[in-house]
Amino acid sequence: MKAYLLEKPGAPENLQLGKIEKPALQKNEVLVKVRAISINPVDAKTREGKSLYNTLKETPPVILGWDISGEVVAVGEAVSFFQPGDEVFGMVNFPGHGRAYAEYVAAPEAHLAHKPANVPHHEAAAATLAALTAWQVLVHEAKIQPGQHVLIHAAAGGVGHFAVQIAKYFKATVIGTASSENHDFLRNMGADEQIDYHDFNVEDVVMDMDIVLDSLGEENTRRSLKTLKDGGKIISILGGAKEEVQALAKKRNIEAKNYLVHSSGEDQAKIADLLGQGLLQSHVSHVYDFSEMAKAHEQVETHKTRGKVVVTVS
Ligand SMILES: NC(=O)c1ccc[n+]([C@@H]2O[C@H](COP(=O)([O-])OP(=O)(O)OC[C@H]3O[C@@H](n4cnc5c(N)ncnc54)[C@H](OP(=O)(O)O)[C@@H]3O)[C@@H](O)[C@H]2O)c1
Repeated sequence: MKAYLLEKPGAPENLQLGKIEKPALQKNEVLVKVRAISINPVDAKTREGKSLYNTLKETPPVILGWDISGEVVAVGEAVSFFQPGDEVFGMVNFPGHGRAYAEYVAAPEAHLAHKPANVPHHEAAAATLAALTAWQVLVHEAKIQPGQHVLIHAAAGGVGHFAVQIAKYFKATVIGTASSENHDFLRNMGADEQIDYHDFNVEDVVMDMDIVLDSLGEENTRRSLKTLKDGGKIISILGGAKEEVQALAKKRNIEAKNYLVHSSGEDQAKIADLLGQGLLQSHVSHVYDFSEMAKAHEQVETHKTRGKVVVTVS
């Protein structure tokens, strides 16, 4: 099968299309013929030798990628939930070695969900790592409740646009930060208010939030404390809840945490349900062919993507 191998970390061109054997199946795994792969900032950081690169290089060859949608073509002997012919999607083995940049991926059945029939593969692939992050942060970590006020940073991005929709699904009032050219997009996703971070310091114009989702880290996490009410929660997905920030938060009974998404077929099934009902939608702004992986990485590295970047595999 074809797969992108990363022999040494570096530029997008270091992703080299090669031929390797199809992966062998463990008894709890299914073999998925991949139809679409979504690309995330963590893919690009890992390609550069940062983030999860050291974990991946322990089990060579290094093949990036975690987010897939496709069709089950074989199942391990202990697999009970899926069978050949099922259309599935999910985030495979995160934060381990997902090996998703390939025509076939071996995935633990516990990391997948059935793809809703009315959702195309590229939209399903998009609703994996980014959507799971938004879901796990808001539902499991922040325990979002109806009527709460939620601030989503980088609301037009991959995680952000899912977080806005999920918070609205839980009947929260949602403020999102984005450049003004993305404000109509945020409105369409359901955001009640949009703030252009170029024009305002968010802490000068937002207050009394119950929950903040921080995806910018460092300074942003610390400054965002001011937007929270006493007893609120801030969850950073970019390591911004450093000790100093946690100490400041504690003085106001604010919970400040860092969070790393993990593979979960159970959470993926919740997302599948919302996608199938049209209550959650993937916005895929860029679709590339499998041969254009380097271009997909370059797009993610602009840090200006609206919604998601997806690569299709025919
Ligand atoms: N810990 C975890 O589990 C986890 C999971 C997923 C992602 N992450 C991390 O979270 C970050 C975001 O991920 P993502 O997939 O959402 O990224 P993304 O899709 O690449 O984000 C792009 C968006 O960021 C917005 N943006 C850029 N600078 C901004 C700023 N200063 N203020 C507000 N918005 C800004 C852009 O909006 P405008 O064009 O409107 O400026 C663009 O729409 C990445 O660093 C990623 O690695 C962590």
